[in-house]
Amino acid sequence: MATETRSREMRPSPEAPTPEDREFSFSSDDYAFLRAMLKEKSGIELGPTKQNMVYARLAKRLRKLGFKSFHQYIEFIGTPAGVDELGTTLNALTTNLTKFFRENHHFEHLGTAALQEIRGRAASQGRRLRIWSAGCSSGEEPYSIAITLLRAMPDIKQWDARILATDIDTEMVRRGNEGVYPATALEGMEPDIARKYFEPHGTDKVRLAAEARNLISFKHLNLIGNWPMKGPFDAIFCRNVVIYFDKDTQRVLFDRYANLLVPGGFLYIGHSENLFGITERFKLLGRNIHRKIA
Ligand SMILES: C[S@@+](CC[C@H](N)C(=O)[O-])C[C@H]1O[C@@H](n2cnc3c(N)ncnc32)[C@H](O)[C@@H]1O
Repeated sequence: MATETRSREMRPSPEAPTPEDREFSFSSDDYAFLRAMLKEKSGIELGPTKQNMVYARLAKRLRKLGFKSFHQYIEFIGTPAGVDELGTTLNALTTNLTKFFRENHHFEHLGTAALQEIRGRAASQGRRLRIWSAGCSSGEEPYSIAITLLRAMPDIKQWDARILATDIDTEMVRRGNEGVYPATALEGMEPDIARKYFEPHGTDKVRLAAEARNLISFKHLNLIGNWPMKGPFDAIFCRNVVIYFDKDTQRVLFDRYANLLVPGGFLYIGHSENLFGITERFKLLGRNIHRKIA
């Protein structure tokens, strides 16, 4: 798999116009406002150089709503009538890049070493198994978890096994719940997996098999807000999410994850993320797989 970097995740759209060619005026104050709003509502920090990207992502909303400038749009999202639009703004500004079995070594670890331990632990605890995909985007990550469990646990029907999949972006949660993807999403996937867990859906789409869909609950949840669930979780996947958060936000988040994990539970984070200087409640096992130790 090609090396991924933060710059690729946040690459501005190639069609972003230069400031002189812009259809809508977008001042540096407008950009500062949107940056601060996004940070406050989601924890996501956009760098000072992402103004073009924000323009490209929001211009079609302004066009659709008939605004002439970003200033007008910003005023609108601050009014009671603009509350729903604020959600759409947040959806547009999140970066949702994902794919099935991304960073596959995490799923290999889950299906072997992790499940072996979880099985041992859970056998005496009613065969309960809980995994959380936090920042699940359009669902490829939690479905990869579901397929991993189905393949590794022929006796899964005798387990109380559930996967929670959450994201701040309501459109991503909707898509994940639907479980329909372009057929091209299967490219590069093991043919056995593609055959067994995906069904044709229309001419050029596929849908996850019901046994995978039935394992997952998709929910809208803001990681920097309140969490209704009590856990405990055997494993948490939070990959390629905190790269957009500052260190203090990460500190609070990883502490909350540790509180929700069983003793010895697993935390999987993204390829460009790390816990150094953030928390000492986890031990690194290798390749961004961590064990809760405190
Ligand atoms: C780059 S995607 C990563 C998807 C998946 N975890 C993966 O690694 O393939 C990051 C996801 O985090 C979500 N996200 C960002 N801030 C969030 C927050 N405060 N609460 C919940 N989800 C958030 C975004 O909406 C986006 O879908």
